[in-house]
Amino acid sequence: MAANTDNVKKDIESRYIERTSKSQKYYTEARKYLPGGETRESTFFKPHPLYMERGKGSKLYDYDGNEYIDFVGNYTTLIHGHCDPDVTRAVATQLELGTVLAAPDPSQTELGKLIVDRLPSADLVRFTNSGTEATHWAIRAARAFTKRDMFLKMDGGYNGSHDAVEINIIPDLNPQELPEPKIAGLGIPQSVLNDIALSYYGDLDSAEAQLKKHRGKIAAVILEPMLGSLGMIIPTKEYLQEMRELTKKYDTLLIFDEVMTFRLGAGGLQEHFGVTPDITALGKVIGGGFPVGGFAGRQDIMDMFEYDPVDPESVNHSGTFNGNNMTMVAGVATLKKFDKKAVKYTNGLGNKLRVGIDETFKSLRMKGQATGFGSLVQIHFTDNELKNAYDYVMGILPNMEVQKLFHLELLNRGIFTAKRGFFATCTPMTESEIDTCLEEVKETLEVLKPLVNYPEGNR
Ligand SMILES: Cc1ncc(COP(=O)(O)O)c(C=O)c1O
Repeated sequence: MAANTDNVKKDIESRYIERTSKSQKYYTEARKYLPGGETRESTFFKPHPLYMERGKGSKLYDYDGNEYIDFVGNYTTLIHGHCDPDVTRAVATQLELGTVLAAPDPSQTELGKLIVDRLPSADLVRFTNSGTEATHWAIRAARAFTKRDMFLKMDGGYNGSHDAVEINIIPDLNPQELPEPKIAGLGIPQSVLNDIALSYYGDLDSAEAQLKKHRGKIAAVILEPMLGSLGMIIPTKEYLQEMRELTKKYDTLLIFDEVMTFRLGAGGLQEHFGVTPDITALGKVIGGGFPVGGFAGRQDIMDMFEYDPVDPESVNHSGTFNGNNMTMVAGVATLKKFDKKAVKYTNGLGNKLRVGIDETFKSLRMKGQATGFGSLVQIHFTDNELKNAYDYVMGILPNMEVQKLFHLELLNRGIFTAKRGFFATCTPMTESEIDTCLEEVKETLEVLKPLVNYPEGNR
């Protein structure tokens, strides 16, 4: 088996290296100036990352001229694909007028209105420059409003990369009654652990135990209405409804991190599930391909941001590029045409892909599955039930090498996916591109079938 693994690995890697020689050259040069040759962990992979020259619609082209169907969409951001004509026109016009004018612009109001009109929890919204900033400010808003410091986060939940939320990004691998809090890595102060409580995604008991234990101290509970980065695991409606009830019962706020999931419904996943949080963190699609974030919420909470330097009850929120003109006009052009019909279309493509992957596993007599919701799809090399981040990690741990090879082999076949095995659809994508993707996934799985290790209890 080991020799077979080595041969498959060598074959996939050598074909990748052969067809991407320019990327290899750029990467070698980059390492002289950038540690690891990159500034973004998610786009780096071995033997070298791909250097993309351009994108158009649902397609990407690398510097060697290879064409890919883009299922990454800049990590779920580019809902209209690359160079959408309406977005490009809006941005080109703005470029001639100035990129950021250190003054509010009607485009900021317009994007605000587009969000407030469709997002159930949003009475008012403010803009930031990333999803990381969005969750930072959502938590700051909750802390300011409740005058409390602690918050409850999900074990294995990813809410951006600021210190306060870089805790248990990898879930506790020895789960007990409550998750053991652990900072994600070097450079994050241990002191952030003073203000955190953790519960398991999908599990009401651990959430209630924490809310009870820290009664009167927790400013908010933050969670995604689908566990995105760790498995694209969709919760039950009852779980989200109960979390809403629990936060009311224990007199704390509920924050939904919809940075990734806003694209899944016209009013985000909160509208789909009919559960309205107090605050919502936003990002990705609302910036039309430009750096963006936002936090929106109840009037009484958001009113604190009507800043008055002599009012101790108000909160100062600044940022050199907050609400910058380029992002605002791109966001307006994007959301205007990301209407209910477009949501239905992109979700339909994702559903087709998810069903197709499930069928492919069955037809190959492999144990595997695709999870997610609508336009976001995640592949797993186990058919165990996946309820939380721990289940996801248990499925992936025996197959780290398979996952890497799956990614690389799909690149060899012109399918650009995230290295962690997710697929995002977009409006310019066609049904026939989904069929092509499914064919390539099938052939790739056939090659990798002998290498897959099923986790315990999955044989
Ligand atoms: C759920 C969630 N929250 C926050 C973030 C952070 O967003 P950004 O990368 O724009 O800082 C991400 C990014 O992937 C995310 O998926």
